[in-house]
Amino acid sequence: MSSLEIKSSLNDFVPPPRITGRYEDTTAGGETVSAFIPIPLPPEPPLVMPSNSHFFLLFSDTNNKLSRMDALVEQLPSIPLFLAPYLEREAVLSSQIEGTQSSLDDLLMGETYSEGESMLDITETSNYLEALNHGIEKLNEGFPLTLRLMCEVHQILMRRGRGSNKQPGEFRRSQNWIGGTRPGNAVFVPPPPQHLMDCMGELEKFIQQENSFNPNLNPMPPLLRAALAHLQFETIHPFLDGNGRLGRMLISLILYDAKILHQPCLYLSLFFKQNRDEYYRLLNRVRLDGNWELWVEFFLTGVAHTAQHGTDLAHKLLKIVAIDEARIRSSVGSNRNVLRLHQYLQSRPLVSVTRASKEIGISFPTASKAFEKLVSLGLVRERTGKLRDRFFEYTDYFALLAEDTEPLPR
Ligand SMILES: Nc1ncnc2c1ncn2[C@@H]1O[C@H](COP(=O)(O)OP(=O)(O)O)[C@@H](O)[C@H]1O
Ligand SMILES: [Mg+2]
Repeated sequence: MSSLEIKSSLNDFVPPPRITGRYEDTTAGGETVSAFIPIPLPPEPPLVMPSNSHFFLLFSDTNNKLSRMDALVEQLPSIPLFLAPYLEREAVLSSQIEGTQSSLDDLLMGETYSEGESMLDITETSNYLEALNHGIEKLNEGFPLTLRLMCEVHQILMRRGRGSNKQPGEFRRSQNWIGGTRPGNAVFVPPPPQHLMDCMGELEKFIQQENSFNPNLNPMPPLLRAALAHLQFETIHPFLDGNGRLGRMLISLILYDAKILHQPCLYLSLFFKQNRDEYYRLLNRVRLDGNWELWVEFFLTGVAHTAQHGTDLAHKLLKIVAIDEARIRSSVGSNRNVLRLHQYLQSRPLVSVTRASKEIGISFPTASKAFEKLVSLGLVRERTGKLRDRFFEYTDYFALLAEDTEPLPR
C-alpha cells in the first residue's frame, strides 16, 4: 500500500448539533487548565447514515472487503504461519507512529543487539507483540474484553524498557496533557484522574454491546463501535503512556471479539502511519465539533484499504510459497529437512540458524545444510556477512512483509 490520498466527502458536512463532553478546571504542573470530560458513547443525536449516501456505500464496501480478507485467511493452509509475521509487522508499525525507530529487521534480529537506544526501541516493539498476543489469547479463552483485560495488556506493553516507570497496567493518578511543552500550551487536556473510572466504565459498557449488522440500528455494528471506541479511548487517555498503541490494539480486539473476523487479522497502523497528520487532526476535531461522521468515514476508508491490502498480501505470499515449494521439490525431491525449513521460514522469514534449528527440532549442522540448499536455489540469502551467528532471510517473502515498514524520521 503506497501512500494514499484520502478524499473525504464529509469535510463540509454539518453534523446535527452535538455535545461531546464538558470542561472542568484542573491543575497540572502548577497551572490551572481546562480538562475535557467526554460524555458516554454512542453519539447523541445518532450518526447520520442515510441508506443512499456515500457513507452507507463506504460502509457496505468496507464490510465486503473485510469478509473477503477473512474468507481468504480462513482458507490458508496454515493460518498461524501467515499471522505470526503479520502481527510482527503490526507491532513495528504501531510502535513507529509515535517515533519508535525499530524496523521489522530489528525486531526479528533482536537477538544480535545488546544495548542503547535501538535496544530500547526493539524492546518496545517486542512488548507490543507480546501484549497483542496476550489479548488475543484471552479472547480465545473466552474472556470478555473488559477494563481488566485492557490493563493486563497495558501491563505487558509497558513492562520493560522506556514505559516501565509509567505505571504499567494502571490508570493514571495524575493529570496529563497532549501536545505542547506544558499543560498551559497543550493541544488537549484529557479528563482529570478522578473521572477516569467513570469514563472508562462507560466505554467498557459501550464496547460490550451486542452485535448488529445494520448501521442504522442500535446496538451498533462492530465496525462503527470500534471506530467510536478508539477515538473515545484516545480522548480519555487513561494511561500515563502507551495510549496510542493500546487504543490501536483495541480496534483489532473489538473486531475479533465481535466475530466479524474469524482470525485476528485486521491492523490499521500502516494506514494511521501513512495518514498520521489527518489521524491526529481528526482525533482532535471530533471532540470540538461533534462531527463523528468525519472520523467514521476516515476509519472505514482505512479498514477498506487495509483489508484490500491484507487480501493482496496473502495472495502474493501464497503464490511465492507455491512456486518455491515446487522448485524445492524438483531439486531435492522429498528431503524433509529442506521442506520443513521452507515451512518454518513462512512464520519467521528472517532468522538465525540457531533459532531455526531449535524450533524445527533438527541439529545445527542439518539446519545449516538446509539453509545452504535454499541459498543455492536463490530463495534465501545470508544477512550478516559473518561466518558465525548467521541470519538468513527468505528473500521475496520477507520483502513483501517488510514493505512500508521503514521507521519515520525522528
Ligand atoms: N489531539 C489528540 N487527542 C486525542 N488523542 C490524540 C491526539 N493526538 C494524538 N493522539 C493519540 O495519542 C497517542 C499518543 O499517546 P501516548 O500515550 O504517548 O501513546 P503511545 O506512547 O502509544 O504513542 C497517539 O498515537 C494518538 O493515538
Ligand atoms: Mg508515548
